[in-house]
Amino acid sequence: MNMNTTGYRGSADYIVSDELRNTVNIAIALQKPLLIKGEPGTGKTMLAQSIADGLGKELLVWNIKSTTKAQEGLYVYDTVQRLYDSQFGEQDVSNISQYIKLGKLGESFDSDEQVVLLIDEIDKADLEFPNDLLWELDQMSFYIPETKETITAKHRPIVIITSNAEKELPDAFLRRCIFHYIAFPDPAAMTAIVDVHYPDLKKKLLEQCMEAFYWLRTIPDLQKKPSTSELLDWLQALVVGGINPQRIADELPFMGVLLKKNQDLDVLLWHLNNRPQSRIAHRQAFKIG
Ligand SMILES: Nc1ncnc2c1ncn2[C@@H]1O[C@H](COP(=O)(O)OP(=O)(O)O)[C@@H](O)[C@H]1O
Ligand SMILES: [Mg+2]
Repeated sequence: MNMNTTGYRGSADYIVSDELRNTVNIAIALQKPLLIKGEPGTGKTMLAQSIADGLGKELLVWNIKSTTKAQEGLYVYDTVQRLYDSQFGEQDVSNISQYIKLGKLGESFDSDEQVVLLIDEIDKADLEFPNDLLWELDQMSFYIPETKETITAKHRPIVIITSNAEKELPDAFLRRCIFHYIAFPDPAAMTAIVDVHYPDLKKKLLEQCMEAFYWLRTIPDLQKKPSTSELLDWLQALVVGGINPQRIADELPFMGVLLKKNQDLDVLLWHLNNRPQSRIAHRQAFKIG
């Protein structure tokens, strides 16, 4: 299996490590779901888009919420519509298949071409959820009793599953997946990511922002550490606001773009006022005057 000439090689708008790229290709070759963990903002969701773009395949996204049930990914039977039609409609309601609506997993099985299926933030759902999908993900098939129909994947979808690691996932589920943890990008990797989004950014502004951003992430007791998306938004706000880079050293303009919780803003202000030496030491370590 030559990983360099076939399969996923990345995409222009997404920075991928060699290790992650290889893991993606191994998961595809072994036809196993790829489970991606990492803190928010580490590019888990975007990886699925990058894989779809890189391979020229359609992306189907199943966004998981706390109330999501596995069944919804297969199909739902719209009994309410059927009842409505039987009372007020003209059409024949005996054909149940018109009230069966495939979910994202069902759609990915039914597609005429291989698709990339993203099951995003699986840890949002309850613990039963991953276990309830084991059989369907293994067999790539499920049965619809209402229509006595079996939906079998025409092409096994490439399945990407993301988790923010809010909860541990069941062992039986983990065993079936290929796993990769995306570490929070170090400054060099982050510079590459920023460059993809804002290639024309002034070097001085970027340096100042990177230092401030990584210093912010060292502050203990933040409820929500700023992540890549907040950094990207902040850079944009500073450019649009025409902020002089030097001001970033002194006052952290638009800090509400980085920290979204009132309590975190209070914690930050406390550190700026009471721990100025930590910032100075950090700036020196970052080699910023
Ligand atoms: N490796 C990367 N290359 C390019 N952009 C990235 C990368 N990682 C994160 N980003 C950017 O950071 C933001 C958050 O990424 P996202 O995929 O939503 O993270 P997650 O799903 O892990 O929370 C996106 O706007 C994305 O553009
Ligand atoms: Mg995400």
